Amino acid sequence: MDTTVSTLPPDDDHDAPRPRWVGVLIVVMMVLITLGVVNVGWRILQNSPAEEAQAQRVSADPELQRGLALAQASDCARCHMVDRKAVGPGYVAIAERYAGQADAVSLLAGKIRSGSVGTWGTVIMPRHPQISDADATLIARWVLSHAEAGKS
Ligand code: HEC
Repeated sequence: MDTTVSTLPPDDDHDAPRPRWVGVLIVVMMVLITLGVVNVGWRILQNSPAEEAQAQRVSADPELQRGLALAQASDCARCHMVDRKAVGPGYVAIAERYAGQADAVSLLAGKIRSGSVGTWGTVIMPRHPQISDADATLIARWVLSHAEAGKS
């Protein structure tokens, strides 16, 4: 009979080995966390459906392209996103609010030039006096064109 194991002196220097399932669990958790991070990163990089629809609308309309270019040349993107609230309301929310309002273009063009506060909350939108009336009108049309983007 082999008695080697039972005759060895007790080994107090080493902890009992971790059960194998603990290692497996750690690996599984790490894989899940990695997948989660990759998934979130991928979603952040993707354009939302509203952004896609708006991009198509703009590509078909030279006037909207000018409005977009003017907005991009200014600081709007610091505070506005397409379909999410940032410092200011999203363009889709603005467009939906004024959908069907006849004087919306001139109203918003005026607000782009002279600023706004109190319509959406207490945060102030700064004025943009350097933007001409004509350019502000083009930008306002582009902002309002986001309305259908929200519905698609
Ligand atoms: C510093 C942040 C900031 C910048 C920069 C900014 N906005 Fe705003 N914007 C806001 C805030 C905040 C509101 C909400 C104001 C309110 O409640 O009346 C707003 C509101 C608006 C509205 C809706 C106004 C209304 O009466 O419903 C439009 C249109 C708009 N912004 C367009 C623009 C455009 C175009 C630009 C770039 C030329 C721009 N914004 C730059 C913060 C900003």
